[in-house]
Amino acid sequence: MTLYLIGLGLADEKDITVRGLETVKKCEKVYLESYTSLLQCSKAELENFYGKKIILADRETTEQGDERIVEEAKNKKIAFLIVGDPFSATTHIQLFKLALEKKVKVRVIHNASVLTAIGETGLELYKFGKTTSIPFLNEHPNLETPYNVIKDNKRIGLHTLCLLDLKPAEKKFMTIKEALEILEQIERKKKEKIINEKSLVVGCARLGSDKQTIKAGTLLELKKIDFGKPPYCLIIPGKLHFVEEEMLKTVYHN
Ligand SMILES: C[S@@+](CC[C@H](N)C(=O)[O-])C[C@H]1O[C@@H](n2cnc3c(N)ncnc32)[C@H](O)[C@@H]1O
Repeated sequence: MTLYLIGLGLADEKDITVRGLETVKKCEKVYLESYTSLLQCSKAELENFYGKKIILADRETTEQGDERIVEEAKNKKIAFLIVGDPFSATTHIQLFKLALEKKVKVRVIHNASVLTAIGETGLELYKFGKTTSIPFLNEHPNLETPYNVIKDNKRIGLHTLCLLDLKPAEKKFMTIKEALEILEQIERKKKEKIINEKSLVVGCARLGSDKQTIKAGTLLELKKIDFGKPPYCLIIPGKLHFVEEEMLKTVYHN
């Protein structure tokens, strides 16, 4: 039958598209990918709103269970729900590709993503370079990649979006302060003058929800701000157009 990859948007149960909701309602089995991002509502609230039972798909279910889900979709309508947009995490392309390879019908229903919601900062989406992730240091003690990505983007004037590590099952979410400290730590090691206490940075929390927070300021200022509940991301701006500069300085400066 069909595997539907459905984006849920960023905030809560009401952010699903009309097409997404109609599709969920007609599916026989509904999975929810629960480890690459976080909604501002519970699984029970989603189930209530969709009128469907939801099976939580953890990292194991998806990365090793792709085969099983694709197999199920051969003769059932299966919904696979993803927070944000289905293709704004690197993981779900595997499931999509496997379905195509196995000649199982697969449809994608897109939605808003953190990759576009950051436009609300006033920074032009067209001027973002490569996106990077900042993982917890204990798992990556020799981490340099985010620093190098920021360096490469800055060299050509581009902004960098840093996605911050999360482990929702353990209720563990890297904060903006922690992410900035990791970048400072790499700076102390590499000494390439990419970031310092006076660098302009932008922190965002819960984008797309009524309770979103966007703050711009120096690295030192942002480390002192309590951004509230997760999820969080961090932007290191590149060369600023005057409209971008005004947005950061007048609208979002702490
Ligand atoms: C791998 S991305 C997943 C993106 C998701 N599929 C989407 O389209 O938005 C997850 C990371 O994006 C960031 N993020 C996701 N949603 C966010 C939000 N609403 N506000 C701020 N940052 C967010 C966090 O850094 C989080 O660790």
